[in-house]
Amino acid sequence: MTMYDLIEKKKRGIELSKEEIEFIVYGYTDGSIPDYQMSSFLMAVWFNGMNKEETYHLTMSMMNSGEVLDLSKINGIKVDKHSTGGVGDKTTLILGPIVAALGIPVAKLSGRGLGHTGGTIDKLESIPGFNTSVETEDFIGQVNDINIAVAGQTSNLAPADKKIYALRDVTATVDNISLIASSIMSKKLASGADAIVLDVKCGSGAFMKNEDDALALAKEMVDIGKSAGKDIVALVTDMDEPLGRYVGNSLEVYEAVLCLMGQGDKKLMDISKALAAHMVVNAKENIDIKEAYIQVEEAIESGAALKKMVEFVARQGGDVGYILNPELLPKGDVVIEYKAKTDGYVKAIQAETVGKACLVLGGGRRTKEDVINSSVGLFLNKKKGEKVKAGEAVVTIYAESEAKAKEALALLDDAYEFIAEEIVIDGDIIKYVV
Ligand code: URA
Repeated sequence: MTMYDLIEKKKRGIELSKEEIEFIVYGYTDGSIPDYQMSSFLMAVWFNGMNKEETYHLTMSMMNSGEVLDLSKINGIKVDKHSTGGVGDKTTLILGPIVAALGIPVAKLSGRGLGHTGGTIDKLESIPGFNTSVETEDFIGQVNDINIAVAGQTSNLAPADKKIYALRDVTATVDNISLIASSIMSKKLASGADAIVLDVKCGSGAFMKNEDDALALAKEMVDIGKSAGKDIVALVTDMDEPLGRYVGNSLEVYEAVLCLMGQGDKKLMDISKALAAHMVVNAKENIDIKEAYIQVEEAIESGAALKKMVEFVARQGGDVGYILNPELLPKGDVVIEYKAKTDGYVKAIQAETVGKACLVLGGGRRTKEDVINSSVGLFLNKKKGEKVKAGEAVVTIYAESEAKAKEALALLDDAYEFIAEEIVIDGDIIKYVV
């Protein structure tokens, strides 16, 4: 078998076998297949696609290229949740404590994330003292004791995906459903959960800009998960405007705590409850989605979820004073408002541009080496469909310097679109359940 022959085969649209796909993935990971041949192969996949079997074999070989976590020492059914990423997405911080408060083990490995805002790990690290480098044994012990632990992903999880994704990024081969689905699922399956709930975002702030593509990606990932023997469900959810009202690391922790206190933004609560309820259905015997929703609501209303958040933060070394009094969480010192120029209504908010505003403030990373300022970010005083008066604050910017605040301000002019008349807003954040 040679890489040349396999490129030739894919170029002609001929199906590859499990052994052939393993040859490519392991060969590229160990360096015996060079970048130029892998690039050519990826482009052939981009043009000719992969069928279900090929996509599954690609996923499994990337998963098997590194460590596959064994969480069997954790009691109960472990349910993981994964989001394809979006601006202001802090749902893990909300549903993790809810689900854990209902007695379900949440053993979550998260990334730091490149892009607009940090990943879940960066957000948690904005709580003073919070430690995300937890050894496997302590991680398992913590989940068995309090039902929840969140730690940084080790570099040995699906290393083939890491290398291939980096190459796709510079060869214009990211946007292919088989490649995206296998990339995400290889990491999820290596994380050792028994069941998986996926949140596939769709809209201006997401990878998938339209519902059809998001649905296709959701179906592909669900098929892979089922073939791997997992209980898996995917929700396709709206990312046409940022999720919730806060964007930025410590600001998002603040908003998550408000949600656990029962004071959350409606759409953010809707999606967090839906994802949590599907996790409950997957983890508990004989429970339907209606009953799961009731339990989720009760966990919030009784204060059990907030109590779990406090327990979780304390166990990982965080100062719980910031959870009990979330207004103490750091906010950038330089505060500038983006104001409405005329009376009207918010017609649209480009989520991606709001994300870029957070990035220029220093709330995200352009390269792996960048250091995040966790206190900076934005509060969206006005969201889609809401009325604005001339001179009223539309967004409040929290920055570390006036110069950066002004850079963000300029972007907001592109992000927001206004209209004179009131418009009807689609209030449904969940588009499909697959
Ligand atoms: N996220 C991933 O992990 N992989 C992709 O290919 C796209 C998004």
